Amino acid sequence: MDGNGRWAQRRHHPRVFGHVRGASRIKPVVREAERLGVKALTLYAFSTENWTRPEEELGVLWKILKKFLKREADELDARNVRLRVIGELERLGPDVREVLDPVIARLSKNTGLQLTFAVSYGSRREIARAARLFAEDCVSGKRHPSDLQERGDDLLEEYLWTADLGELAQVDLVIRTSGEKRISNFLLWQAAYAEFVFLDLCWPDFSPQDFEQAVVEYSNRDRRFGGLGQKKELKTGGIRA
Ligand code: FPP
Repeated sequence: MDGNGRWAQRRHHPRVFGHVRGASRIKPVVREAERLGVKALTLYAFSTENWTRPEEELGVLWKILKKFLKREADELDARNVRLRVIGELERLGPDVREVLDPVIARLSKNTGLQLTFAVSYGSRREIARAARLFAEDCVSGKRHPSDLQERGDDLLEEYLWTADLGELAQVDLVIRTSGEKRISNFLLWQAAYAEFVFLDLCWPDFSPQDFEQAVVEYSNRDRRFGGLGQKKELKTGGIRA
């Protein structure tokens, strides 16, 4: 959800105004994902690097997240949306966890759109953590290093924050707003074969129509997964914004 700060500054507003407007884009985007038949949607809300932002901005971001959860939990539940959060949850303040944890628990049985917020998320950290957890399992005797040779990628995926998403953890499409053309430590493993759509507009201007257009562009891409294969339909439904 990139470009909130620039969007606000261009309008001579404080950066946090962009975050408020950015958060208001989430609901229409979630609805559009449902309408398009997307099965999984991950929104990159806060990276491990974002902790370096000024205290004041961080405070507003947590406030926005709490407000969003309080305001939207009922409707998300009614729409059968499941919410997950990936990232270093242990770094979030107790006031955030107090709101977040019950919402995650409440929506945990829902079988509709699988919505994930990446919060205090960094993909390198996720992969390093997976390696550590695997090593710990080897030390305890639960696993053996040769398991990685036998089961390879599938096995390491069980240690990633996205493990719980199963096949949906594989990303089909990454949409990046704000004109930047980089991946910024987002789902590096999971997006190995993702298609990318880069948009010049900032996240607060991202509309359901932009989302639909990106999906149409995606569906016209020829995904070969390194082989010579033919065009594939949306395989897993893992659209990421
Ligand atoms: C990136 O824009 C956006 C963020 C760091 C925060 C995004 C958070 C929200 C929209 C609200 C809270 C989250 C949820 C899930 C309700 P930027 O500030 O890096 O923009 P810039 O690149 O223009 O400075």
